[in-house]
Amino acid sequence: MATNPNNILRRSLLYVPSSSPRMLAKSLTLTTDNLTYDLEDSVTPSLKAPSRAALLTHLTSLPSRPPGVHDVAVRINGAQTPWHADDVAVLAGCPRVDTIVIPKVQRGKDVNAVARAISSARPASLPPVSLLALIESAHAVTKLGGICKAAPGQLSGLVFAAEDYALDVGVRRTGSLREMLYARSAVVTSARAAGLPCVIDLVCTAYQGEEGVRRLEEECRDGRDLGFNGKQCIHPSQVDTVQRMFAPDEGEVDWAVRVVVANEKAKRAGKGAWTLDGHMIDAPVVGKAGAIIRRASACGMDTQALREKWKNQEPE
Ligand code: COA
Ligand code: MG
Repeated sequence: MATNPNNILRRSLLYVPSSSPRMLAKSLTLTTDNLTYDLEDSVTPSLKAPSRAALLTHLTSLPSRPPGVHDVAVRINGAQTPWHADDVAVLAGCPRVDTIVIPKVQRGKDVNAVARAISSARPASLPPVSLLALIESAHAVTKLGGICKAAPGQLSGLVFAAEDYALDVGVRRTGSLREMLYARSAVVTSARAAGLPCVIDLVCTAYQGEEGVRRLEEECRDGRDLGFNGKQCIHPSQVDTVQRMFAPDEGEVDWAVRVVVANEKAKRAGKGAWTLDGHMIDAPVVGKAGAIIRRASACGMDTQALREKWKNQEPE
């Protein structure tokens, strides 16, 4: 798949610490929309340079993206650190890197600076690198408008990081995520206002046992309802749940296809508003149905077969 930031499906963004040879190897066996090899906070300062070198070797040895992976990303160290410049210079030149995740973005010019550094390090023969900006401070949340306008066509989305945000703002974490609601909602709204396709929600740090699964599903539901279209993961055991919960479910896709099919008939009969299952359907509802179908197709569902199944659907 070509690296067009608008086409990249990233329901799960799985961090892989680049300091772990075991996890680098394991990453190649996983099915996840995105792999994000981490050079930032999962790697201790003394291991930054060797991990960067190991990651470059790992990526260079890959003949193609691992099967099932749409996006190979690297989270570099932030601009305020001594490792940042080398991270960009080394990884932007690597053909296997589709996306660079920029941590601790504070303003639009942080994104523009990385975009400029990439363009001088990336050979013109390689496809462009897309960018994701991590929003993890109070300041960043107040500068979302400028951040979303940075590096147009190259910035493909925002990622909300809860732990650094909570540290910066001084909020106490609660199970309800109420303390993050304003920031998470602002991130989704700003990304959508700027037409950025990808908005990725916080990490669920619980990953073990039944309680971990219950908590993860609850968080996925909450993020999805707020408008996020993906979630960061820290462990392979989280990926299947996240990919399932951020794909439209069967009932939703059935409904969307019925709406679109019946709407074609309603339109022919000159009706802009009509009824399905006792609910009024009008233009924004039809628009939403269309978006669900496009997303379902991107997630590999056979929406053509569903159109066939529902071809006789009529408006009530
Ligand atoms: N990426 C790739 N493989 C991973 C992985 C990850 N994030 N987390 C675990 N694995 C692998 C392990 O290597 C192991 O595979 P193996 O037995 O074939 O070698 C398997 O999955 C099971 O791992 P497990 O023993 O349950 O986990 P662990 O105790 O080794 O590691 C964590 C637990 C939380 C330390 C680890 O998952 C991790 O480091 N996650 C990422 C943390 C991170 O990047 N944080 C920064 C972003 S918020
Ligand atoms: Mg962080």
